[in-house]
This record gives sequence, structure tokens and C-alpha cells, in this order.
Amino acid sequence: MLPGMPIRIAPSILSADFARLGEEVKAVSEAGADYIHVDIMDAHFVPNLTIGPDVVRAIRPYTRLPLDVHLMVSHPDALIPAFADAGADILTVHAEASAHLDRTLQLIRSHQVKCGVSLVPSTHERALDYVMDTVDLILIMTVNPGFGGQSFLRSQLPKISAVRHMIAATGRAIDLQVDGGIKPGTSTGVISAGADVLVAGSAVFKGNPHDYATHIAALRS
Ligand code: DX5
Ligand code: ZN
Repeated sequence: MLPGMPIRIAPSILSADFARLGEEVKAVSEAGADYIHVDIMDAHFVPNLTIGPDVVRAIRPYTRLPLDVHLMVSHPDALIPAFADAGADILTVHAEASAHLDRTLQLIRSHQVKCGVSLVPSTHERALDYVMDTVDLILIMTVNPGFGGQSFLRSQLPKISAVRHMIAATGRAIDLQVDGGIKPGTSTGVISAGADVLVAGSAVFKGNPHDYATHIAALRS
């Protein structure tokens, strides 16, 4: 961890009770979350299907925290305007899903939304080389995307360290987010490697909503 670097927690609502999504977003916001992480899956880029812009619009009134929308979709450009209009504050796309990544990032920015790039575990950090002057957030997947509750891939720790150095070289404020298998047993390693935003689904949304604050605090320490 870099000295003085605050660790932010982005609970993934993929593990929330979808029948009570508004209350879940409110509960986790009051429990000390920093972002609300929203996983969008299209059953094409990843083998699962989740929610669309209307659900993002529906949860927007339940929190003042940034809605951090992770697009695991094959053709992100077609969906970016709708998610921006629905109230997303950050839109993260996969480098593997955009044929013209720079254009996709410019499109996100044109909607006054922060832009992020995510890499699946098999993608090298060099895929970020020519977007470092544009991105606001880099998301390193620490599982193969598609499902909550998978096991953390330790193979991604050197990539997190490498990207931390790339960010330092820019002198820009870029969030370094990790997503997948993050729990108290794995958070220490990713923080040491340089991550400063931890996405966690199953480690936060478990048990009673009154326990969410304890789960979030456990990830920070
Ligand atoms: C996985 C999603 C994650 C997922 C994380 O494809 O992008 O955000 O919800 O879930 P956990 O924390 O349970 O691994
Ligand atoms: Zn995610």
C-alpha cells in the first residue's frame, strides 16, 4: 500500500437481494461504502445476464454515492448513452470488448461521465499503454468475469503492482480497482500490491443488512 492512500470499498450489488435492490443500495451506503458497483452482463461477452439501464435509473435515488457501472458487454458503445442517461457516474468497459478503445473512452467522456478500462485475467497490462492519459479508473479482474463468489486469482498480483507503477508514472489521479474474490483473506494482498478501490460482492452482502458495516470495515483493515 502507498503511504496515506485511502482504501475505498465498492460493494457489488450482484450479490444483493434483487427483490429489495433499493433498500440494499441504501443499507450498504449507510454502512460505509464509497462507490456502488453495478455489474452489467450481456450473456455474450460473459456467460451471464444481469440488468440494464432502467434498473440503474431505479436505484439512483437510493444513494448519493457514485454509481460505478462495470460493463461486461460485447458492444459497449451502443449502451454507453443509455447508462450515462440513467445516472452512471463511472462507466468501465473491457479492453477486450472494444475494437476502438480510445474512441469508446472519448464517447464516455462526452457524456460527462468518468471512464474506466478493465482487463480480464489473461490480458497483459500493456493493453493500457495508450489510454493512460485518458482513463479515470483501471479495473483489474481477479476472477474471470461473469459470476460472483468465485475464487481470487493470485496470478493477478504482479499485474496490480505493474499498473500501480504505470499510474505513478503518469502523475494523474487514476483509481486502481480490483474485482473478484475480494474478502478479508485476499484484500491485504491486493492493497499491498497497490489497489486502492476494492470491489466485493459476496463478502459484503451476506447475513443481515445490519452486518454490512462490519463486512466493509473488515475489507479495509
Ligand atoms: C464478476 C463481477 C464482480 C462480482 C464480484 O464478474 O464483476 O463484481 O460481483 O463478486 P465477488 O466479490 O463475490 O467475487
Ligand atoms: Zn464487477
